[in-house]
Amino acid sequence: MRLFAFAAALRRDSLNRKLLRLATQAAERAGAVLDLADFHEFDMPLYDGDVEAASGLPPGAKKLRERFLANDGFMIASPEYNFSIPGTLKNAIDWATRQQPYAWKGKPGMLLSASPSPVGGNRGLWAIRMPLEATSACLHPDMFSLPAAHEAFDETGGLKNAKLAARLDKMVAAFVGVARAIATPSTPRA
Ligand SMILES: Cc1cc2nc3c(=O)[nH]c(=O)nc-3n(C[C@H](O)[C@H](O)[C@H](O)COP(=O)(O)O)c2cc1C
Repeated sequence: MRLFAFAAALRRDSLNRKLLRLATQAAERAGAVLDLADFHEFDMPLYDGDVEAASGLPPGAKKLRERFLANDGFMIASPEYNFSIPGTLKNAIDWATRQQPYAWKGKPGMLLSASPSPVGGNRGLWAIRMPLEATSACLHPDMFSLPAAHEAFDETGGLKNAKLAARLDKMVAAFVGVARAIATPSTPRA
């Protein structure tokens, strides 16, 4: 069971990247093999139908599709921007869905968020579900949102709150179990 994972954040000190690191470690403990990416790898222009007509998908969008296709499932940690999906992530989804089949079609996915707010970015995750589910991702019902994330991590990068850490572990382990049961084998890698 191979899982593609990235934080949909570009900031060097991204709280979502820190949360994703913990989630991927939990997934490894549950037996998954992780393919961790940095969102910078998928840099791409704003979607423009004229650019698409002239030259097809930009390299960043192609790379993003390939990484989804090469794995059995995925984990995304994303900030919430203005109660919704960050434009960078929506733009990437829009480009990536301009080729069929959808790269995440039928693939199990788990969403996480981290935010300094008391809600932890959870409203943004509901907005992320919409385009991914509309394009046939099989998203885990449970989502993990880390509130007050700016003060949630200790100096080693772990969560200070042991109950939250245990909750994250349990949710990720449950996701890996379900993902293992429903995933279809990914396309062979070179
Ligand atoms: C344009 C913008 C909009 C934001 N809107 C929200 C919001 O609606 N809810 C929220 O909890 N945080 C919001 N934030 C704060 C982010 O949660 C915070 O900057 C967070 O650290 C970003 O994630 P990162 O640390 O992974 O980069 C917003 C930040 C930006 C830049």
